[in-house]
Amino acid sequence: MSAQTMNTRKGNQVLDLLSKMTLEEKIGQMTQVDFTVIGIPPEQNPTFPIDPQKLEEAVLNHHVGSILNTPFTPDNKAQSIETWRKMMEAIRDVSLKTRLKIPVMYGIDAIHGVSYTQNSILFPQAINMAATFNTDLAYQEGEITAREVRASGLHWNFSPVMDIGRQPLWPRLWETYGEDVHLSSAMGSAYIKGHQGNDFSAPDKAPTCLKHFVGYSFPINGKDRSPAWIGERMLREYFLPGFEAGIKQGAPTIMINSAEVDGIPGHANHHYLTTILRDELGFKGFTVSDWADINRLYTRDKLAASPKEAVKMAVLAGVDMSMVPFDFSFYDLLLDLVRSGEVPLSRIDEAVSRILTVKYQSGLFDFDRPMPDPKDHFATPQALEINRQAARESIVLAKNSDHLLPLKKDARILVTGPTAHLLSVLNGGWTITWQGDAEELYPQEKSTVLEAIRNKSSGTVTYIGGQSFDDEIDIDKAVSEAANHEFILLCLGEKPYTETPGNIDSLLLEPRQQKLAEALLKTGKPVILLTLGGRPRIITALAEKAAGVILGFLPGMEGGEAIADILFGDYNPNGKLPITYPRNTNDIVLYDHKPIEAFEWNVYNPLYPFGHGLSYTQFETTALTLDKQELKLGESLNISVTVKNTGNRTGKETVLLYLNDVAASVSRPVKQLKAFKKIELTPGQQKTVIFSLMPDDLSFIGVNLKRIIEPGEFKVMIGNESRSFTLINSAETNL
Ligand code: GLC
Repeated sequence: MSAQTMNTRKGNQVLDLLSKMTLEEKIGQMTQVDFTVIGIPPEQNPTFPIDPQKLEEAVLNHHVGSILNTPFTPDNKAQSIETWRKMMEAIRDVSLKTRLKIPVMYGIDAIHGVSYTQNSILFPQAINMAATFNTDLAYQEGEITAREVRASGLHWNFSPVMDIGRQPLWPRLWETYGEDVHLSSAMGSAYIKGHQGNDFSAPDKAPTCLKHFVGYSFPINGKDRSPAWIGERMLREYFLPGFEAGIKQGAPTIMINSAEVDGIPGHANHHYLTTILRDELGFKGFTVSDWADINRLYTRDKLAASPKEAVKMAVLAGVDMSMVPFDFSFYDLLLDLVRSGEVPLSRIDEAVSRILTVKYQSGLFDFDRPMPDPKDHFATPQALEINRQAARESIVLAKNSDHLLPLKKDARILVTGPTAHLLSVLNGGWTITWQGDAEELYPQEKSTVLEAIRNKSSGTVTYIGGQSFDDEIDIDKAVSEAANHEFILLCLGEKPYTETPGNIDSLLLEPRQQKLAEALLKTGKPVILLTLGGRPRIITALAEKAAGVILGFLPGMEGGEAIADILFGDYNPNGKLPITYPRNTNDIVLYDHKPIEAFEWNVYNPLYPFGHGLSYTQFETTALTLDKQELKLGESLNISVTVKNTGNRTGKETVLLYLNDVAASVSRPVKQLKAFKKIELTPGQQKTVIFSLMPDDLSFIGVNLKRIIEPGEFKVMIGNESRSFTLINSAETNL
């Protein structure tokens, strides 16, 4: 059956079902509640924490169409896969008892794997996946995550985050694919493709959710859920393209920005949610609010004079489903609003049609659809190896003085610092618990950095440090121990966090970490500085004195092993920074800055630039060649460059193609990433890498806020080479 026929058939099914539904049943479909609404106190039944009466109250009496999240239990939020499958079967059975047998859609945050199912594969976080510059790995992460979502009996993943990470203070920077539009769009698209395949009704595929639409990631003060001031040209240039790419890739749901842009909260922004998202971008799926954010239009933002006014405002702005999450207030209020005529039934039918369409597309009406058998679809050895490879490729070697690294396995190493001996610091938030900080719940068979080094070492590995992040470290003891060792691995960074709990007032490292570092650097022993965490904390003074710098960010559950692989040279690092690493706290000038940011006294001088990352071998790019010096509008430009491994070991290199539009009617970035390719070369081997730039790659958002292309000079830059070309005979054209 063709896709067209399939869609028509689904469309008819939706219309047919809609015509049979009562108003209560329709509004129930727009209502999403948290697990606790149907849950029981854990001590009553830890392996099946559902209250059947509460479940029936929600699904049969309030017609709830979606449930999210995971049981809060004192010991953990992650459940066994058996418990999940049992709970999902119970929810399916109650769905079958509804008058029209409409399935409940269960949503979960599986942003780096199915973090609330015990022993799932937990990948590097998005910032690390971006550092791999490897879309194949993003695809595989999506594929494996979808499989494990479905093996757990779950239906819908609130991922990927398509927000752009351009504000390093923001506590969710690590949930993004970094600061660049092209990289973020490429990685997010690959992830969606793997997660959904060509038909996400397949037993091992599942629908994704682009979030958080739009402009959430750029709070002017760096604190989560605080105002962003983003002009529409910047919105269209930097913040919309990732969502456009995700929509093009077929993501069927979108979660809304929990904060506000230009004074308009995301959940009340008709211009964003309807004019842009629907009329311009043609999004056909459904939008879901973020946590309790409709009611916050009343309780926090003071746009609405009452909770009912808030529901009206959000539904009319374009919110299709409300993550209420703890009660049925949205259901009750919206019923009143429709009955009183304040919200037209046509808007309800529009939202419910979208929701039902996605449920059909997800295969949920096929109640007999099998859950993948965990035996060969969950935490498989192949998936584990892919995860370890992703972790390896996500680590950035930022400094390696005198080729100090890799170390010999018999080296005498002192390991110290708050991130040396914890699993939580490798994973970050959304891991087993919301904040990811319950170290005691992490799978003890996984290796911390220290354990992984000890497992590989044939020499001496001494640890000076505590058992938890905040434990004091005896600096004098560390300094005296340094004398008995050849190298010091100093592990610094951040404890896990997400959302507003992760807000900070400065990117500076904690003073105690700074103090430990300064004392160890004074010993004269070569210090390898390893940082872990979700943000680029300021390490300039330490990095200048350290012999080696490894930027680990959040490499996931295999991160400890990957770091040890790199430290001892069992793996040749190839990660590259997906963000600019600032030299100082207020030195936030990104790689794609405007000329004015590096003019006269203004300088662009990061500690490490976007795209920076060393290898244990060396690469040389030469012979950058364009197939035209003059380009007519509509033509593509073919570019070739030769890359050679001039070192003595095999390695992977990502070739980054940047473009500069030299002069235009709005200021243009000094360079923008437009393509990248990752290749592997043996010593002495060289390859010619070919790129094609399409007309759209030359476009930008013009004065009139439309995407246009203008004639003029452009520069293509790869490595240290730059070539110019001219775009001709193309009057300013709207694309
Ligand atoms: C949170 C987050 C969002 C997440 C949702 C459900 O507030 O902002 O990313 O998907 O709630 O947990």
